Amino acid sequence: MRVSVIGTGYLGATTAACLAELGFEVLGLDVDEAKIELLRSGSVPFYEPGLEELLTRGLDAGRLSFTTSFPEAAEFADVHLICVGTPQRDDSGAADLRYVNSAVELLAPHLTRPAVVVGRSTVPVGTAATLAARLRELAPADEEAELGWSPEFLREGFGVEDTLNPNRIVLGTDSRRVEKVVRELWQKQIDEGVPFLVTDLQTAELVKVSANAFLATKISFINAMAEVSEAAGADVIQLAEALSHDDRIGGKFLGPGLGFGGGCLPKDIRAFMARADELGVEPALSFLREVDAINQRRRARTIDIARELIGGDFSGTSVTVLGAAFKPNSDDIRDSPALDVAATVASLGARVTVYDPQAMDRAREAYPQLGYAPTMADAVRGADVVLLLTEWAEFREAHPDEIGEAVAHKRIVDGRNALDPTFWRASGWTYRALGRQ
Ligand code: UDX
Repeated sequence: MRVSVIGTGYLGATTAACLAELGFEVLGLDVDEAKIELLRSGSVPFYEPGLEELLTRGLDAGRLSFTTSFPEAAEFADVHLICVGTPQRDDSGAADLRYVNSAVELLAPHLTRPAVVVGRSTVPVGTAATLAARLRELAPADEEAELGWSPEFLREGFGVEDTLNPNRIVLGTDSRRVEKVVRELWQKQIDEGVPFLVTDLQTAELVKVSANAFLATKISFINAMAEVSEAAGADVIQLAEALSHDDRIGGKFLGPGLGFGGGCLPKDIRAFMARADELGVEPALSFLREVDAINQRRRARTIDIARELIGGDFSGTSVTVLGAAFKPNSDDIRDSPALDVAATVASLGARVTVYDPQAMDRAREAYPQLGYAPTMADAVRGADVVLLLTEWAEFREAHPDEIGEAVAHKRIVDGRNALDPTFWRASGWTYRALGRQ
């Protein structure tokens, strides 16, 4: 079976390389010429562990190629996977559907023989039904051009693993043919016991957004407990551990700290609320407004703690920010809590120096007003306070004595509860974290 993957961003490039690895002939398509050139040369335009090896293997084996031409993709493939982005619209929290819409508009007129189109992008519930109708309208193949929706659940940094070993495959369709094609794509995984759930289009769309809403809620829940813990003299880390032993609650996504960012959770909960509003069920999701507000408050609280530590005023101080990516093992800075905090602290008069193992180029481009250092050792030199805002292994494993020799004052705010407070305090540091005394 020959597959086209439309959109070669984080999701599309990973999907294309993984399907080639599984033995399919894959053509990746993007409207961005520069990105296609990079991929053709075997380079991944973002940091994702393990992806470059797969890309190179696919290219070398002749199973993976790239194009910017929709007619070529239509001619080449029997199944087309839509993997384009659905960013947040500037004017509202709603999802911007221009890229998914244009993928269908540009592909459909070239579908002259039977074809299956499967969306993987995260879309507001109801989008797929509209696109299915539009596809039938535009495709010369008419009823023989069918659309299903199969959301992805990849975590950045684990994209390859999550694609090759997913915890479930969900497909929204009422077409036997669409189901057969998607089963064939993931036959290996289904044979290995991965649950394959077939639903209607709307349920499939909802699975994705509700999963992300649940994860965001879980993080904000523990961060709300962090607020209460600070006020009441309790310790949120011990609290989270004690909660995690109840297997109805579980310990995953119960990590208190600076909260969630990235290209998915923040925009997905906002788009979900906007869609609920359109559907007339706004109160059903009004709790997500609180989830978002708790998350934003974590950033403000981190800044307050740092300000307290340096004596109440940032002006003229040297602040080191460790971390720029929204989470470790990624160079993605979309809605990064770390950079949001860094920029605010700089606007309050501090000289801010940022270091991140992977996200420096992106950070520098988006936040030129901040200072950047090439290594952690350079970044901490002369700091009045160090803020650990993304929990890269390099920071978790840093030795307090070594860093202590370079800084002006041994003060640290552990925004991710990533360090051992006893160890750092024993080395003479004033250590502060969210949700702890
Ligand atoms: C998320 C979903 O996990 C994934 O299934 C979906 O397909 C896309 O959105 P991702 O954005 O890659 O994936 O990041 P994730 O690992 O979920 O982390 C999201 C944010 O939550 C990060 O900023 C992380 O630092 C934060 N987080 C995570 C916490 O603050 N505490 C936790 O306990 C876990």
